[in-house]
Amino acid sequence: MAIGIIGGSGLYALDELAVSERARITTEWGEPSSLLVCGTLKDKRVVFLARHGETHAIPPHRINYRANIASLQQCGVTAIFAINVVGGINGEMCPGDLVIPNQIIDYTWGREHTYSDSDTLPLQHVDFTDPYDQALRATLLQAAIGAGITVHAEGVYGATQGPRLESAAEISRMANDGCDIVGMTGMPEAALARELGIPYACLALVVNMAAGLGNQQITMDEIEAVMAQQIPAIRQLLVSTCERL
Ligand code: HPA
Repeated sequence: MAIGIIGGSGLYALDELAVSERARITTEWGEPSSLLVCGTLKDKRVVFLARHGETHAIPPHRINYRANIASLQQCGVTAIFAINVVGGINGEMCPGDLVIPNQIIDYTWGREHTYSDSDTLPLQHVDFTDPYDQALRATLLQAAIGAGITVHAEGVYGATQGPRLESAAEISRMANDGCDIVGMTGMPEAALARELGIPYACLALVVNMAAGLGNQQITMDEIEAVMAQQIPAIRQLLVSTCERL
């Protein structure tokens, strides 16, 4: 068993990993965003992938999500933890907060979002009632409790196209739809993992209040300040999670 960790904005490497190999993988769907960094963490095999590339050069809509998930599978990954930064829509999910979402609404478009348009895999209509793996979510939650890290145990993730942020009216519509948080990279990643049968859970860091709900404008400065402050807690939570698997 190997644990896949997909690092999002602010998490481009996992210093805690005792690295044994940096693998350049090619898949039927092309190249993943970065080298796959393989190693051990708390005696578990871990494979780390930087979703936007190691220098954050790949925007959300240009990420090759299919190659990313397939490359992790090729490396023997049987469980994926995805780290995503998000905006808060629910007034209780504020900058600095961590959320383990249990549901997702997909507003993205035009992304290569399935393996079912290749000749290799048969057409499948995968069940996506619960888009995130319950056992992995429970492990994350228990690890957070054990490490004294506060998390929101549930939330609805709204996945938008980006790379621009949303208008206030779009956020208002998403709030009406039931979204608690908004991010640009949650889909099609979660669905592709489901298609390949790999259990997948997300740990989301709220870095700003979504458009129209906080400051008059959302700035990269405020987002980067929250990331710098909270990425250590995410690292700690990932270590505790690996320990429990
Ligand atoms: N919207 C979409 N994606 C995001 C946001 C946001 O407000 N903050 C961080 N990622």
